[in-house]
Amino acid sequence: MNPQATLRVISAGGDYDVRIGRHLLIEAGNLVRSVCPDVTSALLVVDSSLLAFTYADTVETSLIACGIPTVRTVVARGEASKSLATAETLYTHCVDAGLDRKSVILALGGGVIGDLAGFVAATYMRGVRFIQIPTTLLAHDASIGGKVAINLPQGKNLVGAFHPPRLVLYDVETLRTLPARERSSGMAEAIKHGVIRNEAFFSWLEENMENLIAGELDATEQMLYTSCAVKAEIVSEDETEQGTRAFLNFGHTVAHAIEALAYGQFAHGEAVAIGMVVESSISVSLGHCDEALIVRLRALLAAAQLPQHVPPSLDVDALIAAMRHDKKATKKQLAFVLPTRIGHVLLERDVEESVVKAALRAQIAPS
Ligand SMILES: NC(=O)c1ccc[n+]([C@@H]2O[C@H](COP(=O)([O-])OP(=O)(O)OC[C@H]3O[C@@H](n4cnc5c(N)ncnc54)[C@H](O)[C@@H]3O)[C@@H](O)[C@H]2O)c1
Ligand SMILES: [Zn+2]
Repeated sequence: MNPQATLRVISAGGDYDVRIGRHLLIEAGNLVRSVCPDVTSALLVVDSSLLAFTYADTVETSLIACGIPTVRTVVARGEASKSLATAETLYTHCVDAGLDRKSVILALGGGVIGDLAGFVAATYMRGVRFIQIPTTLLAHDASIGGKVAINLPQGKNLVGAFHPPRLVLYDVETLRTLPARERSSGMAEAIKHGVIRNEAFFSWLEENMENLIAGELDATEQMLYTSCAVKAEIVSEDETEQGTRAFLNFGHTVAHAIEALAYGQFAHGEAVAIGMVVESSISVSLGHCDEALIVRLRALLAAAQLPQHVPPSLDVDALIAAMRHDKKATKKQLAFVLPTRIGHVLLERDVEESVVKAALRAQIAPS
């Protein structure tokens, strides 16, 4: 693996690089200057969990050393911070810090901080520049593609924007401190990328999952590069989700319903893992793929220490109702991205409710 690797994302808002490697935080100031030469100041939005480590200090020191006045703001860890109330607090900090249209907002944290800080960057003064510094495994997915959002009490990501970052700075050293459960959660999106686009990558994950789950950094870096490449390729093809970008929703129709009903009980990737099994089961029912795909998927999810069953506490009718509220539902039809074989999916726009119910029931955890 190269000490640093770079992927390029094509975007209508300006193409940008995803830099993956070690010891990148210390380079933050130079790298920000290279993509925002006229930058006047920065707001660094930091996940509260990261205060136990030196990451924010390193980034702030690097920015200031490069002549970029920087104000740091800390956001409480967890999904609840992806709210209008927290966004309002951040707007106030933007004003208090004197941010202008040439300022930049940086997100240092996982997908929660990226989505929230990105939403604030998309809307403050009708949009200021934004830089992602992901620190979770899951954020390899969340930080690429320009989707930013906050939640409403009625559902996840209901208010948002497309606001691509100017740069994604992925220092894999930060993953050393990531809790094991969050590591597994992030693995779900990598497995998803294998299922929807890259059979060889799926096989590679099967061979390397033990090392990946153990947190081995070389393997993790290699995994991130390929997984980010899948995401970068898809969003470069279809940034605004007119076509193939929808394939990234594999597992997510069910996952979002589980997250809505079992708020706070599942990490995003855990819900996606269950969702991928249920949606694959729908695919089997419709004759799009055979059972062997589920067997292989389950084995890889198990190796990644991810759940695979719908919790019995969740009501199937309530899950269906939540799916109908998902913003991806159109005209009340239930649409799903379904695998045909590992590496290939199709979009089925009108799946019978009875098929979905049967698939959910079939995947309820044995008591
Ligand atoms: N915009 C997108 O395209 C997109 C895609 C996928 C997911 N998402 C969103 O991302 C969010 C989930 O992201 P996530 O899983 O990264 O969750 P998260 O941001 O909540 O981070 C997970 C946990 O890890 C902690 N943490 C972060 N980095 C750490 C580190 N290096 N060391 C120790 N602890 C660390 C955080 O405090 C948090 O408790 C969801 O809100 C989801 O909707 C967005
Ligand atoms: Zn996801």
